Amino acid sequence: MDLDKIIENKGYIDLPVDSGIDLPGEINRLKRSKNAVILGHYYINPELQDISDFVGDSLGLSQQAKEANADIIVFLGVHFMAETAKILNPRTKVLIPDILASCSLAESAPSDAFSEFKNQYPDHKVISYINCTAEIKTLSDVICTSSNAVKIVESFHPDEKLIFAPDKNLGNYINNLTGRNMVLWDGACMVHEKYSLEKILILREKYPDAKFIAHPECEKPLLLIADFIGSTTALLKYTLEDPAKRFIVATESGILHQMKKSSPDKIFIPAPSIDATCGCNDCSYMKLNTLEKLYLTLQYEKPEVTLSLEVMEKARKPIERMLEISKK
Ligand code: 13P
Ligand code: SF4
Repeated sequence: MDLDKIIENKGYIDLPVDSGIDLPGEINRLKRSKNAVILGHYYINPELQDISDFVGDSLGLSQQAKEANADIIVFLGVHFMAETAKILNPRTKVLIPDILASCSLAESAPSDAFSEFKNQYPDHKVISYINCTAEIKTLSDVICTSSNAVKIVESFHPDEKLIFAPDKNLGNYINNLTGRNMVLWDGACMVHEKYSLEKILILREKYPDAKFIAHPECEKPLLLIADFIGSTTALLKYTLEDPAKRFIVATESGILHQMKKSSPDKIFIPAPSIDATCGCNDCSYMKLNTLEKLYLTLQYEKPEVTLSLEVMEKARKPIERMLEISKK
């Protein structure tokens, strides 16, 4: 059985798992025996969030990955997140249950095209949203996440010329908030671009007591009507602290699991998408993570995320810079 061939063809270890086994129990046993830590993003399925040692947003997960004192990190999220974990903790083996768990934003910025774009603005500094490949990170001066984007942008002198990549919606949002005029790469997230303003307005009329909260990757018309805009962690905190009892949530539906756990007495409505049949509230990449794949990944220690030393060294600098600025 050639596991690498299977992974090459399928992206994950496509082997049958005995339906009789206690999967969470086996995963925890393997995790302990191999000194592994499981890091999970808020967008993964509830049963995976519940088995993770740490659940968080992109910033929190990067900080956890850097500090992790384990032999193995299993990253339940998408590929750029696992790459970031590897860059920040290069001596630890980083595994991802499905190597095809990509991100439409990261894919919207291929490194060759971005390099050409950057060359058109030789006097500009580059701020890249963490949702990009390691190659794009090597071309960046500093990285940001949705938690710290404003702080990172404001760490530059107001006269500094800036490129922001790859998310044009987040870039636009920060331009409006800070009065900057950053040059934007034309990328977007396939989940956050699909919300229907019309349907959200109808929902608000139906539930006038509801607060509408949105991730800054959403388009401008949605952000204009939002009661609160923030990263996944900020949205979660808002629902916990705000006295409202009902929230319409415009970000990937996985976060609703933590919202319901933190505020069991409140009602959370996933913001409706343009196409009611598409399940667009779900990030199909995040949802490639399953308990079965996690089990097989821990068992066989594959697929592993690997990067060249050169890429890791170059990409680490702008990420470390972000972590430093975030601490201030
Ligand atoms: P967070 O920075 O809030 O974790 O968002 C990550 C992401 O992929 C949003 O789509
Ligand atoms: Fe990427 Fe969008 Fe999925 Fe986030 S929700 S991982 S930005 S495709």
